Amino acid sequence: FIDVRSLQPKTGVCTFDPGFTSTAACESGITFTDGDAGRLLYRGYPVEQLAERGDYLDTAYLLLHGELPTKLQRRRFENEVRHHSLVHEQLIQFFKGFKHDAHPMAIMVGVAGALSAFYEYDSSAHSPEGQLEACVRLISKMPTLAALAFKTSRGLPIVYPRNDLGFAENLLYMMQAVPCEPYKVDPIRARALEKVLVLYADHEQNASTCTVRTAGSSQANPFACIASGIAALWGPAHGGANEAVLRMLMDIGGVDRIPEVIARAKDRDDPFRLYGFGHRVYKTFDPRSRVMKAVADELLEATGIDHDPLLTIAVALERAALADPYFASHRLYPNVEFYSGIVLRALGIPISMFTVIFSVARTAGWVSQWREMVNEGQHKITRPRQMYTGKLERSFVPISRRG
Ligand code: ACO
Repeated sequence: FIDVRSLQPKTGVCTFDPGFTSTAACESGITFTDGDAGRLLYRGYPVEQLAERGDYLDTAYLLLHGELPTKLQRRRFENEVRHHSLVHEQLIQFFKGFKHDAHPMAIMVGVAGALSAFYEYDSSAHSPEGQLEACVRLISKMPTLAALAFKTSRGLPIVYPRNDLGFAENLLYMMQAVPCEPYKVDPIRARALEKVLVLYADHEQNASTCTVRTAGSSQANPFACIASGIAALWGPAHGGANEAVLRMLMDIGGVDRIPEVIARAKDRDDPFRLYGFGHRVYKTFDPRSRVMKAVADELLEATGIDHDPLLTIAVALERAALADPYFASHRLYPNVEFYSGIVLRALGIPISMFTVIFSVARTAGWVSQWREMVNEGQHKITRPRQMYTGKLERSFVPISRRG
């Protein structure tokens, strides 16, 4: 890395780096990725260990505070998250204003941003207590908003959060298709969802996190910043890939069509891409993809859904792509999304909710990155330069002389 602070702007020197492929925009102590080795660490802990031995709230606390919580800290954090899990009744009215078939991500962008109308935040003070309260509110309310988006998009009665349930358990509980009491969430499914949430929790300066930081750099309200992150996450090149992968697998329909799909992905004149493959940082297996595949296998076996035809297609597609010289030469490997759709489908989550689940999980990363940035003594408003390619200065032509 070259420290661009050493390049004097007064001399007019600037870097041209579309997509920021080689530009570090911040210093961060939260998440480390090693794209060549396929390693991902949250505050130094391998993501595989956190997924296997920890859970989402441990991970959220770790990302926010830098250390895993002690027993007492964990209890307090859990209580805070539970305390904030309800949303203002008036906010619930917002959901009724969306078109009946609105995509739940469109709803999430709106309602997460609307939280800024309910919870004041003094950006000029940025008090430590105010910051933490906003972060916890967001982590806590996102599952409730997600379940509300799902329920209202289906015209189903809403289910309020339950404070005696775990984080993932509560999310599954609120999303239940047919509300009935007592409703029991399958612990196997709840545990699998906890793992998914841990895998999605943070990923350094990806497009959505970078967007949250950019919005936050102007001192915007944190709830509005997270809404901007949700919008950036939605695209199929980013978080929307989990939905795109599953739709692609359904579209393929059978293993006999795999050669045709691989040929299309390699064709430079065809815009088609193999969703769930390739990553800006990882030039080998995304470590999360291996854990996700293991979760898919365990879940399908444990729930008795021992056969999902889409898993058969996914496994064969992965094998065919990995054996193909195009993918090897472009260093394209499965990313976290390749198997996530299979897992979410086995959890009974509808496809349109896949990216919403991702946004719930990524909230811990977004708020931690936002908090890190606002506490940085000399953070600057994000304001990249450009290479101007337009017209040079010219004189205004009155409409009578424009022909
Ligand atoms: N299928 C086929 N070819 C691909 C794919 C793919 N999935 N991904 C990249 N390539 C090729 C490109 O065509 C390009 O080829 P060329 O050099 O011959 O022109 C080369 O690999 C480099 O591609 P870029 O788009 O420049 O790579 P970049 O790092 O900008 O993009 C990205 C990374 C967006 C993830 C890309 O690999 C992609 O579109 N993948 C599919 C979508 C996807 O799965 N996104 C989820 C990412 S994980 C996440 O966000 C949580």
